[in-house]
Amino acid sequence: MRCVTEIERNAIHGQFHSTFGPGGRVRLIRAPGRVNLIGEHTDYNEGFVFPMAIEPEVRFACRARTDGMVRLVSSLFPKQIIEFSIQHKIERSEPAWSNYVRGVAAELIGAGIAIEGMDLYIDNTLPMGGGLSSSAAIEVGTALCFLTQQGQKMDLTRLALLCQKAEHEYALVPCGIMDQTIVSSGREGHAMLFDCRNGTKQFIRIDEKELRVVIVNSMVKHELSGGEYALRRKQCEEGAAFFHRINPAIRSLRDVTIKQLDESKGKLDPIIYKRCRHVVSENHRTTDAALALERKHYDRAGELMVQSHQSLRDDFQVSCAELDFLAEQAMTVKGVYGARMTGGGFGGCIVALVQPRAVESLSHHLTESYQKKHQIKPAVYVTTATAGASVVQ
Ligand code: GLA
Repeated sequence: MRCVTEIERNAIHGQFHSTFGPGGRVRLIRAPGRVNLIGEHTDYNEGFVFPMAIEPEVRFACRARTDGMVRLVSSLFPKQIIEFSIQHKIERSEPAWSNYVRGVAAELIGAGIAIEGMDLYIDNTLPMGGGLSSSAAIEVGTALCFLTQQGQKMDLTRLALLCQKAEHEYALVPCGIMDQTIVSSGREGHAMLFDCRNGTKQFIRIDEKELRVVIVNSMVKHELSGGEYALRRKQCEEGAAFFHRINPAIRSLRDVTIKQLDESKGKLDPIIYKRCRHVVSENHRTTDAALALERKHYDRAGELMVQSHQSLRDDFQVSCAELDFLAEQAMTVKGVYGARMTGGGFGGCIVALVQPRAVESLSHHLTESYQKKHQIKPAVYVTTATAGASVVQ
């Protein structure tokens, strides 16, 4: 895992003190971004996801205050100091990103946890709205700041649920549980097969000598609160309700078999049928891909990723021209096992599983061809799997 270097630590402390003044005990916390290798739009259907925590991360410098105020600055908007009090009801407010912090403070208080105010400097190296879960990183990191100041710890499942609730109620994004779980529970060198129904986590080694994970940001912004994400959730619920009427043992799309799906064709609204077909097939692909990676069957894992992209593009309809282009072009490079869009969709990133010696040619080819076709320079990240959020100092 890449550690926070002394130079970086000094730089964050420097930023903190020049923003909030000298003195006091300043703590340093980190929370990684995440990439999902496969298992998209399955988490809110009680299905399987297979994400890993990545090296780009958010760092937090915080110092307790005794007056109940939270004062907040992000490195992305260094001139803006945002303030709110934890002694009054915490309301949603502007700027939008501050709601992740407000939401977490409110949910901690709501859960009966005593917290204090703080000065908080957020150093963000993750693109906001770039599909690498900067929001979950801010939520989980903020929660760790509040908890660490009180000398408290929280069970990671509870922490993830609390942060998810903050996102639902303060950022108004009806997200699933994948992002907050991997940001808090990631393990160095491993991807995590997570069962969103029963909370089981299975860590699968990603052998760095044999495999690299390359993420390419299309630079097209995705806006999950924009309505399409919520609409997909609703369509999945509608599908689950249809199957429940036929068989009351079916609680969610997780329970639907391929046979039941096939039998529903023609009876289910065609759009809902397509959404269901994505979720049902994606769950199979996800457990199959985790097994393939465990057995080092990289070609098979890659093939499943390509199928996942096609299903997200054609059945779930959450891709876009830019992501399709990047995923298709990635597959033309020798040594690339698989590539697909990752995250909620409508922009954001693709993820590719790549032989180490193919990283350079992939990065070069995508940068060139994408610029030529879409006149946008993509950002490329080559990463290993890293650990979940932690206290650095
Ligand atoms: C977003 C949400 C997740 C998940 C993905 C799609 O990242 O935050 O909960 O639903 O989209 O797989």
